[in-house]
Amino acid sequence: MMTVTVQASNTYDVRIGSGLLAKSGELAAKVLSPCRALILTDDHVAPLYADALEKSLLDAGFVPQVYVVPHGEGSKSLCALGALLEHLAEQHYTRTDALFALGGGVVGDLGGFCASVYLRGMHFVQIPTTLLSAVDSSVGGKTAINLDAGKNLAGAFYQPDLVVCDPDTLSTLPASVLADGCAEVIKYGVINDASLFRSLQGGTSPACEQVIARCVQNKRDIVERDEFDTGLRRLLNLGHTVAHAVEKLSDFEISHGSAVAMGTAMIMRAAVAHRLCPKSDLDALLSLTQKLGLPTECPYSTAEIAAAALSDKKRSGDTITLVLPYGIGTCQLCELPANKLQAFFESR
Ligand code: GLY
Repeated sequence: MMTVTVQASNTYDVRIGSGLLAKSGELAAKVLSPCRALILTDDHVAPLYADALEKSLLDAGFVPQVYVVPHGEGSKSLCALGALLEHLAEQHYTRTDALFALGGGVVGDLGGFCASVYLRGMHFVQIPTTLLSAVDSSVGGKTAINLDAGKNLAGAFYQPDLVVCDPDTLSTLPASVLADGCAEVIKYGVINDASLFRSLQGGTSPACEQVIARCVQNKRDIVERDEFDTGLRRLLNLGHTVAHAVEKLSDFEISHGSAVAMGTAMIMRAAVAHRLCPKSDLDALLSLTQKLGLPTECPYSTAEIAAAALSDKKRSGDTITLVLPYGIGTCQLCELPANKLQAFFESR
């Protein structure tokens, strides 16, 4: 087992290791007193892993109950949040009880936001079962639901009490969902971890324990310096300006991971065109991205991407913050006038 400790507004351990799902209760009992434990999961994950988590919690003295939501982004809604909050209240959960989010980013984001507002905060444990949630969304305390106006528009920073990541759970993921997580793994390599990038080029499977731990360490290092996303943490948005535009333009038919892969390729092409980044690093990125089963070409024009990016509800002011790669392992934030975004991507 590997442990990464995150020192943020709440200090917690991220435990990573094969077989840890069955030890979740034991690990939780080290940081929480025995209490009622609502296991929030979805209808894909529940049949696979809910029983194992429930048994582990029972054996460790917790009183578990399983609550299942439909899989998919639709469950990150006000309606699903309301139903979950009402359930907690009807069942008389208290703020010393705990919510365990068992699943991917949707369950983690919904569960975390619910835990942050129920009685102004109850205990919260993340048990990611996708690569994307293991390396990104389960760590760092960003929680949210979507509104009709856009993704993640209502949320809170709410750090968990514990994250338990069992890479064995990734074995049941469809190849496309595993590839989605790979886009975030590549992201850490490009942002500031050239040796992680090289290990992936050398053939290390992104699902393995060491790679997950390395990504979590990278995220920890950034979150500890900028928990509330006022500056440095924006580096984690590499490729995301384009990615959010692509997701929106495709009506969310293109997955987040695929969109991030396209976005990272597009921003690095632009950085090469502006002579900020060596062409050989772009070639390395494109080849690794394709090797891990992800797209590198965006199906939309630069005009469409720029228009969609600039209409982002979370954007403010006349500038847009881009994460610019200066090479594999080196990125910097750059403010660009919003009306220059299309031209920036069109430079040759
Ligand atoms: N997923 C980006 C962040 O946590 O800041």
